[in-house]
Amino acid sequence: MANPLRDFFFGTLTGQSAPKKELTDALTPRRSFADVILPASTRQQLEYALVQIKKSDLIFGTWGLGERHASGLGLAFNFAGPPGTGKTICAEAVAFEIGKRLLIVRYAEMESLWAGETSKNVAAVFRLASETDAVLFFDEADAIATRRFGSVTQGYQREANAVVNVLLKELEDFDGVVIFATNLASNFDPAFERRIRTHILFEMPDAPAREQIWKVQLHARKTPLADDVDFAELGERYAVAGGDIKNAVLKAAQIASAEPMPDSQKQIHQRHFIAGIEEVLKSKSVMEQSIMDGDGSHKAAIDAGTMGQISAAFSQLAQNQNAMGDDLRSVTERSEAIEMQLVALPELFQNWEVANTAARTQMRDELVGQIEKSANHTMELRTDFARADERINNALTQTKLALIIAVVGILVGIGGIVTAFLH
Ligand SMILES: Nc1ncnc2c1ncn2[C@@H]1O[C@H](COP(=O)(O)OP(=O)(O)OP(=O)(O)O)[C@@H](O)[C@H]1O
Ligand SMILES: [Mg+2]
Repeated sequence: MANPLRDFFFGTLTGQSAPKKELTDALTPRRSFADVILPASTRQQLEYALVQIKKSDLIFGTWGLGERHASGLGLAFNFAGPPGTGKTICAEAVAFEIGKRLLIVRYAEMESLWAGETSKNVAAVFRLASETDAVLFFDEADAIATRRFGSVTQGYQREANAVVNVLLKELEDFDGVVIFATNLASNFDPAFERRIRTHILFEMPDAPAREQIWKVQLHARKTPLADDVDFAELGERYAVAGGDIKNAVLKAAQIASAEPMPDSQKQIHQRHFIAGIEEVLKSKSVMEQSIMDGDGSHKAAIDAGTMGQISAAFSQLAQNQNAMGDDLRSVTERSEAIEMQLVALPELFQNWEVANTAARTQMRDELVGQIEKSANHTMELRTDFARADERINNALTQTKLALIIAVVGILVGIGGIVTAFLH
């Protein structure tokens, strides 16, 4: 029997062929941020994520950083938070904003088929996203994004580690947009932390937010609402996630549509919404009871308050995770800055060498000039000495002559005196 998922993982992929497109859900996004009610901080982080996406051409293209860095150019985001808080709808809204399709990889479904070929198929999913220029979305990615096994003793551990390694490599090489959605992100592999630029925390909505979520679940014109509907009261009374509100609205519509009257007179009343949300809470508590109470004994079902507390604890955990992510990111940024400085070092050395050589040449030229000047001075001094010597010799000769003349004069004088005396 045909099994597209099995074919995807084990069967039809050979060499560079792409995975069958129907095996990853390709969604043309319809919902935008106008359909989502979010706390200001979450919305701000999403806005910032969008700016990063929209300006990536400017940063990596025009500003040339794509030429400086061959890998890690993609934009990876992690949407973390409790179930039903709008992670999936926001991934769709991101794709909507940038006018791309959303390629949804459903890892929860894939997990049971992880074996052998999986790593190759992970690479193929990234390739498909590149080829179709789609936003890649790993919904419910807790299973794959978790920490790798430290010591590997079992085959499945080796396989899981191999898949994470391939994912990390693909993330490094991918230059598109990839979004992960995780419920807790409490055991994220640190290597994922580094590669995922932005972790956005989705919190449980507060009462005013819940009131707005009730409203956006309806059609602005077509949904027939009765006058007694009070969304503020519903928001205040039921501390639930947006996903529960959506289910409650659908149930309320079903209940109202079954009322025994002509369709044209049917309206959704407050009681229908209350019945809808109560039913959602009941089925949730049945689910939780069956999970926590597998032996069939009767334990108290978790009430909405406890659920709120659990969600708050989850939010706190995710918040801590986010803070850790921020720390890691700043460490990464600093190490990248150091790396850039290291890259610049050879050039600095070269400049220093050139400057050094120029300074040495200048000093040598100056020294040579000085030595030449000194040599000239010595020559001039020698000439002066020779002249002075000559002058001294002349003076000596003249003195000698004068002396001889004086002596001769004296002798002649004495001779005259002697001659006169004798006469
Ligand atoms: N903040 C919100 N604003 C408006 N609607 C919301 C919000 N959160 C949830 N919803 C509604 O609930 C539905 C389910 O939410 P969504 O699938 O995005 O939650 P999720 O965080 O991805 O949950 P899960 O972790 O279970 O996958 C959405 O389609 C939307 O209709
Ligand atoms: Mg989801």
